[in-house]
Amino acid sequence: MLVTGGAGFIGAALVRNLLAVGCRVRILDNLSTGVASHLTGTEVELMRGDVCCEADVDASLAGVGQVVHLAAAGSVMSSATDPVANFEANVVGTFNLLDRARRAGVERVVLASTGGALFGQAEPPVDESTVPSPISPYGASKLAAEGYARAFAHTYKMRTIALRFGNVYGPWSERKRGAVTAFFQAIESKRPIVIYGDGAASRDFIYVDDVAQGIVRSLDADLPAATVMHICSGVETSVSCLAELCRQVAGAPDHPIVYHEKRAVEVVRTFASYDLARCLVGFRPTVDMATGLARTWAWLRDEAPRLREL
Ligand SMILES: NC(=O)c1ccc[n+]([C@@H]2O[C@H](COP(=O)([O-])OP(=O)(O)OC[C@H]3O[C@@H](n4cnc5c(N)ncnc54)[C@H](O)[C@@H]3O)[C@@H](O)[C@H]2O)c1
Repeated sequence: MLVTGGAGFIGAALVRNLLAVGCRVRILDNLSTGVASHLTGTEVELMRGDVCCEADVDASLAGVGQVVHLAAAGSVMSSATDPVANFEANVVGTFNLLDRARRAGVERVVLASTGGALFGQAEPPVDESTVPSPISPYGASKLAAEGYARAFAHTYKMRTIALRFGNVYGPWSERKRGAVTAFFQAIESKRPIVIYGDGAASRDFIYVDDVAQGIVRSLDADLPAATVMHICSGVETSVSCLAELCRQVAGAPDHPIVYHEKRAVEVVRTFASYDLARCLVGFRPTVDMATGLARTWAWLRDEAPRLREL
């Protein structure tokens, strides 16, 4: 089993879930946002390389039957400031991975897509029948990646599966720029929590081990080629509500919040339905927000500083 981007946030949780069910795991990662210390204590093979490089991908695919493709430039905001880098990592990288996997006879490729950025300002809840309409370069890059996955499934009979994640949070996220990490880091460093817009914007927050379980189930299941599924919580949570929950979990109910202008590339409301994933692979999120946020806060406070010393 190859996991591209396995030294990143979701990768760190995924490889532990894969090892727990007996998989042998190789990782291809250029360590641009991931870190080797995320893999401490796991028996995985880490190959440092780039998904855009044919030779790196070919080497990583030797003897591999299945691939989970997580490697990407994952920030919506960075995609606005550097759309070229985003295009290269997400579109060229995914194309290269699919093409080399096709040549190597890989049986199945599971790609990480997105349930929010793909849809722009579509009325939620979105599902697999909602027409994608991205408003950020990041969303566009994920739509292009899904397009190639579908085309390769039909043209070359590859089994490609695109999973559209909600907003993922949890341990291993200390390098992420998402709201949960940002809010907890603000509380810990005694800076105000910054909310862009009036706080009414909403997201579908899902705990990282639930996402990892959705991926593991998609590797096992007998799915039609080019299946697309949302892996999400199905729950709409406003950013204001999230800030409140973070303050409570961290024991800082009066921590200051400041409001900045809304950012143009961010969608306003988004959450999705996981009905299809429930029907096809029995996916169901198991970690509620209070539990997931408490685990995340504990990890960021206690484990992340230890990791930084490694
Ligand atoms: N975190 C979320 O909320 C979320 C939501 C929807 C989709 N996703 C997708 O899930 C995947 C994993 O996201 P994450 O949150 O773990 O991000 P992350 O940045 O923590 O992980 C990405 C990993 O890919 C590696 N990488 C980046 N470019 C690479 C390249 N060219 N070659 C090889 N390795 C490369 C990075 O070093 C990192 O380890 C991404 O595809 C992302 O777009 C994430």
